[in-house]
Amino acid sequence: MDTVLVTGATSGIGFVIANLLHKSGFKVFGTSRNPEKHRQTLPFELIELDITSETSIQNCIDTVLSKTAAINALVNNAGIGICGTAEETSLEQAYRQVETNFWGAVKMTRAILPVMRRQGFGKIITIGSLAGLIGVPLQSYYSASKHALEGFFKSLRIEVRPFNIQVSLVEPGFFKTNLHNAFEYAEPAIAGYDRIRERALPVFNDTIERAEAPERVACTVMKILNSPKAGFGYPVGKQSRIAPFLQFLCYRLYELGTRRKFRL
Ligand SMILES: NC(=O)c1ccc[n+]([C@@H]2O[C@H](COP(=O)([O-])OP(=O)(O)OC[C@H]3O[C@@H](n4cnc5c(N)ncnc54)[C@H](OP(=O)(O)O)[C@@H]3O)[C@@H](O)[C@H]2O)c1
Repeated sequence: MDTVLVTGATSGIGFVIANLLHKSGFKVFGTSRNPEKHRQTLPFELIELDITSETSIQNCIDTVLSKTAAINALVNNAGIGICGTAEETSLEQAYRQVETNFWGAVKMTRAILPVMRRQGFGKIITIGSLAGLIGVPLQSYYSASKHALEGFFKSLRIEVRPFNIQVSLVEPGFFKTNLHNAFEYAEPAIAGYDRIRERALPVFNDTIERAEAPERVACTVMKILNSPKAGFGYPVGKQSRIAPFLQFLCYRLYELGTRRKFRL
């Protein structure tokens, strides 16, 4: 039975991925910063992990290895969202955004690579974002963290291919999860941005409110796991396929469309 480690498996995309894999016969280890809170309600095994702590990462991987002979795949899913204009976001918030979404996935990957090299196989699947391919107003640091994942994992993919380790990035558009409820807002607010916030924020919230449930993201992860030669980028959702294509065709026109959408 193949073993998969899914970070941030207690809600949203991570939960749906872990649940689908568990139901499909994979041995799933999900993670949470507070496993005790969720253990009773989840059908798969839950291990404690904070991806911002190297000690926690090593403990998590050691725990999985004490229970299973190999780790076939890592799904880097855990992430947070901070919402607000670039100038209003405090540096502490900005660092925390990148620390979790970029460095968290990178540290997990660095810790699993020696394991996968020793095994002689493995898949590293990271949940990036449409925001890693395009710019999104009120999401500059989130978008930066996801763009950074694109560059890191694209490069890593070439380096680790000789070890029979495959690297893929899933690029979902908007999906309805807990991320947006858990969104932290930028502070302190600057009055000069009131109009921008008042115009763009309702559009942003409305897009999320009308977004679909994340099952399609889980199906994409399953497709990658079942593929003998997985590709690199996997856009999921209508926006993820259309927006990068329009941006490539004519950047100015694409930008005009984005400004209109967010009423800016
Ligand atoms: N929802 C979308 O529209 C969307 C679109 C594109 C990409 N994504 C990406 O998909 C991933 C999952 O997001 P989601 O929408 O499913 O959000 P979510 O419902 O808020 O779930 C986030 C998960 O991450 C975990 N987490 C947060 N900080 C962590 C940390 N420091 N260490 C370990 N785990 C941590 C949380 O687990 P605990 O609280 O139990 O630790 C939770 O299970 C993120 O990388 C996000 O950027 C989401």
